[in-house]
Amino acid sequence: MSDPSALTTEALAAIAQAPGEDALAKVELEYLGRKSGRVSRLLANIGQLPPAEKAALGKAANEAKRAIEAALAARRAELEQARLADLAETEAIDVTFPGPPLGRGHIHVLTQVRRQIETVLESLGYQVELGPEVETEWYNFEALNITAGHPARENWDSFYFSPELLLRAHTSPVQIRAMQRIKEPPIYIITPGRCYRRDAPEATRLPYFSQVEGLAVDRGMTVGDMKGTLLYMIQSLYGADRKVRVRPSYFPFTEPSFEFDVSCGICGGMGCKSCRHKGWLEVGGCGMVHPQVLRNGGIDPSQWNGYAWGFGIERMAMLKHDVDDIRLFYEPDLRFLEQF
Ligand code: DAH
Repeated sequence: MSDPSALTTEALAAIAQAPGEDALAKVELEYLGRKSGRVSRLLANIGQLPPAEKAALGKAANEAKRAIEAALAARRAELEQARLADLAETEAIDVTFPGPPLGRGHIHVLTQVRRQIETVLESLGYQVELGPEVETEWYNFEALNITAGHPARENWDSFYFSPELLLRAHTSPVQIRAMQRIKEPPIYIITPGRCYRRDAPEATRLPYFSQVEGLAVDRGMTVGDMKGTLLYMIQSLYGADRKVRVRPSYFPFTEPSFEFDVSCGICGGMGCKSCRHKGWLEVGGCGMVHPQVLRNGGIDPSQWNGYAWGFGIERMAMLKHDVDDIRLFYEPDLRFLEQF
């Protein structure tokens, strides 16, 4: 039978050399295992010894057990330290390491369409003119020949800060501002921007949307000039196979006034579900600028005349991309937005 201190020496040497937890567990079992561990076996036969030896051996065996346990715990702590140190070495974050590439965003479809419209009209000599979204009652209505109490005001019901100040209901007020700024025709401007109306959100309308307005003031302008310009714009944006038409309508700021339609791109004008079997889709209004509007802009209508139009940018984008619900443009749904 080996003596406890020899066993201890042997065990401590094995522990010191154990390269990892597996080896330590084996050593633990070999020496301290409940039944067949070597220290346990030492104690098993203790009963047959004379009392004096019994006490001495019991004490020595217990000391051996404690020493081995302590050595095991120390070695375990040491191995854990080494593991952590190693981790710190191998898994340290290298802040100079390039991260995964960021997904690239792109320009929103409405901005794309607005820029395309601008590019086409700039190529015809039009300048982009911007106006305020918070507008006075005078510019939004009065100057456009929509006098107080005129029933047509209902078509442009907006959000008021005070009776004199509101969120503009269309881009038409910028016609007046442009005439006032430029003063001397010829004037060829387009004015894109956000507009607001007191409407509940639906598939075809929103309380906020954008328009692009055009204004041309020169000498001897005709409806033919207007139609030709708009045909050129539409075919540049949608393709040469598109047709346009004007239908008589009414706006207080134009005379004569028209609704402006583009042939449906899905059915080619034959009539289908998306154009409600008409073959045509309405994009906005247009007409020859009313003499009073010219006068309100400081321009002499006996010398000059002109045409104007106002189209919805969302409507134009819907037409281009066959989108059937205007609300999609303002929702953060990437499945929709990433298509364009
Ligand atoms: N401002 C009109 C609207 O929002 C659209 C419009 C119609 C603009 C005729 C024009 C025009 O310049 O001539 O409904």
